[in-house]
Amino acid sequence: GLTRHYKLNIKMQNVTRLCHTKSMVTVNDQFPGPRIVAREGERLLIKVVNHIQNNISIHWHGIRQLRSGWADGPAYITQCPIQTGKSYVYNYTIVGQRGTLFWHAHISWLRATVYGPLIILPKHDVPYPFSKPYKEVPIVLGEWFNADPEAVIKQALQTGGGPNVSDAYTINGLPGPLHNCSAKDTYKLNVKPGKTYLLRLINAALNDELFFSIANHTLTVVEADAVYVKPFDTETILIAPGQTTNVLLKTKPQFPHATFFMTARPYVTGLGTFDNSTVAGILEYVAPKSIDSIKDLKLYKPTLPALNDTGFATNFTSKLRSLASAQFPANVPQKIDSRFFFTVGLGTNPCPENQTCQGPNGSMFAASVNNVSFAMPSIALLQAHYTGQSNGVYAPDFPISPLIPFNYTSNPPNNTMVSNGTKLVVLPYNSSVELIMQDTSILGAESHPLHLHGFNFFVVGQGFGNFDPIKDPAKFNLVDPVERNTVGVPVGGWVAIRFLADNPGVWFMHCHLEVHTSWGLKMAWIVLDGSLPNQKLLPPPADLPKC
Ligand code: C2O
Repeated sequence: GLTRHYKLNIKMQNVTRLCHTKSMVTVNDQFPGPRIVAREGERLLIKVVNHIQNNISIHWHGIRQLRSGWADGPAYITQCPIQTGKSYVYNYTIVGQRGTLFWHAHISWLRATVYGPLIILPKHDVPYPFSKPYKEVPIVLGEWFNADPEAVIKQALQTGGGPNVSDAYTINGLPGPLHNCSAKDTYKLNVKPGKTYLLRLINAALNDELFFSIANHTLTVVEADAVYVKPFDTETILIAPGQTTNVLLKTKPQFPHATFFMTARPYVTGLGTFDNSTVAGILEYVAPKSIDSIKDLKLYKPTLPALNDTGFATNFTSKLRSLASAQFPANVPQKIDSRFFFTVGLGTNPCPENQTCQGPNGSMFAASVNNVSFAMPSIALLQAHYTGQSNGVYAPDFPISPLIPFNYTSNPPNNTMVSNGTKLVVLPYNSSVELIMQDTSILGAESHPLHLHGFNFFVVGQGFGNFDPIKDPAKFNLVDPVERNTVGVPVGGWVAIRFLADNPGVWFMHCHLEVHTSWGLKMAWIVLDGSLPNQKLLPPPADLPKC
């Protein structure tokens, strides 16, 4: 197959939004960063050059990295970060995947400004399962901080409290006209009447699930996380950080004497402060030549669901179903080798001595999986695993024994303390896994978009309250569940996923709300090599960064 070459220069650059200029981390002098395009089956060689003072690493979110875990990107998980003045060539082949994904920095909070679309086209002569769109348009949702995001998270971790929230959401880097001093920074999509556009929506925001809608237009959802779904129409989509959604937009058959807002704002169920602002962009029809002056076009604004509309969220996610046709079969594992039950949620750590902390009862905020708050190692887990030198780096003793579901009551328990450690689960090659993730509701119920590296998984069930190990599995959808890489563990509820551990390596799993990741809502899996030569992790590249 073909090889495509890209170069990403990570550099400081002055950027102005909301009348506020700051020096921030950019890629190839752009914000958001450049679009990377390849075809299924092709190889990508992407050279990342670090010209900034911080360490950096880049993750190709949703790319499976079959046997090429060295190119996955999360700092201290699959690689040591790229140091100042150094470079690293990410080298991987796209196997069995096509659709909309994205790339982003995977160290601290640098992904706030370091991200861009990653578009995998189908193989030549392989059509979409819908008629060919007139145009394809990436729409990347993000978050703008007037402050330096690195300073925001540093301060939060030092004080043990919640971080300051962002100042605006953005569409392709632009906050739009509903913010002061921002009308000139508005994303505008010019369209022709009577055409079909494929919008490739990406939620690259740090901390918020978002509703997105275009006034007076219906969106047809056709793909989620780079996997086709059965098409369905909706006025609004819900998209969590780490998720991507392709929609078809049919423009009106005639030139309308109006322009239309597209807007996004958060879906939030937790307590605490959050950025509740709205970003707007404009959908503008190109006027036909016969109309020479258009004045006083009407402006239509969409109505979005209420900020806490869990009913909409549940209804929307339940409509996502894989195609499950002969051409696109859903390979849901039917026989399960390993079953796991993980609790996910917030908790606390004791406040260090001689410090005052802003968390609940003077503690520090923390977050955990099965009550373990993940401690970042100082050398990369994949290197430690590959060289067999795990001592002092990680332990394969992630607590998995009791399959006794957490008792969700929506009342916080007396003890909210978590334990801390770098604990992993080891999976044999090709084992089929079922994982139930239960939101604990400790310190406020909240939806957690859990992202798994290295795999797509099938979402076979979800519900509210306590997962029932007898009744709930009987209702699992093993026929056409949606296949994706990031799923919301619903507020005060649970989600069940299945995947086949056919990709040897070390694979991160974490909440894609960056503040929860920083607090420790993350863990990692080791998938062992299989016995055949083509079932083994490839050796590390020569230029793999050192810690
Ligand atoms: Cu998009 Cu580990 O992240």
